[in-house]
Amino acid sequence: MPILTVLNNKGGVAKTTTAINIASGLAAEGNRVLLIDLDSQANLTISTIGQENDAHVGHWLSGEKPLSEVVQPYVPNLSIIPSSKALDIYSKFIGSEEDYQFKLKDRIDSDRLTEQYDYILIDNAPSLTTLAYCSLVAATHVLIPSAPEYFSFAGIDNIMQSVANVKKRYNRQLQVLGIFFTKYHTSYRKKVANDVVEAARETFGDLVLSSTIRINASLEEAQMMRQPVYNYAPDSNGATDYANLLEEIKTRL
Ligand SMILES: Nc1ncnc2c1ncn2[C@@H]1O[C@H](COP(=O)(O)OP(=O)(O)OP(=O)(O)O)[C@@H](O)[C@H]1O
Ligand SMILES: [Mg+2]
Repeated sequence: MPILTVLNNKGGVAKTTTAINIASGLAAEGNRVLLIDLDSQANLTISTIGQENDAHVGHWLSGEKPLSEVVQPYVPNLSIIPSSKALDIYSKFIGSEEDYQFKLKDRIDSDRLTEQYDYILIDNAPSLTTLAYCSLVAATHVLIPSAPEYFSFAGIDNIMQSVANVKKRYNRQLQVLGIFFTKYHTSYRKKVANDVVEAARETFGDLVLSSTIRINASLEEAQMMRQPVYNYAPDSNGATDYANLLEEIKTRL
């Protein structure tokens, strides 16, 4: 059962946008999908169910509240474990515990989430700290969105090192599903963007997906309207690009 963690320690590269739209694409096809918001910014929570909830992922991870009090429905077949600003405090506590790396994996196992859902997706904060580590230990696959700029591209090395580290010590089955470029320029910066994709292929080879996500305002608007882009603007470039990305992802799962 695929558990995808969407990870990049760089901010604003569309981790949250990707988690929402890949999860809603899978749900629209009839799969039972769970989205876990592991970022105390709670952007995913606010762009979907629309509020910071009293019951959040920190309560669930710490065992203070059962899953049933934390999980919320979003669209058909898609549920969310929301986040909150308060997650930072929980993250500090969790990080000080022995074997904290297994915190999320143990919850997923003890609540038998792999029986209840066909896919789990995890959205992360722009960091490679405690909770991102927990997500790597729990995941089967890592999905890495990146901006098509050289600076972002260089940062992918850090993620690869963390993945290798977790794979060696805690989670042998962990795989990088792919690196893909978001906020892709189709106008004057096209050449630079293409060069970066080519350079990425030279370094990371087949790990670089062919799909790219173009800059498209509908993606941001959809989040403001708390809708998946497929519902908000089904004919937009954003909807088309995420549908293509989903198809490519499925060939690798
Ligand atoms: N392809 C795109 N075209 C236009 N806007 C986009 C695109 N992808 C994402 N955005 C917008 O860019 C902003 C940042 O995206 P998002 O929140 O998904 O990034 P993130 O990596 O999750 O950020 P953070 O690191 O803060 O968690 C959001 O306002 C989002 O709506
Ligand atoms: Mg985010």
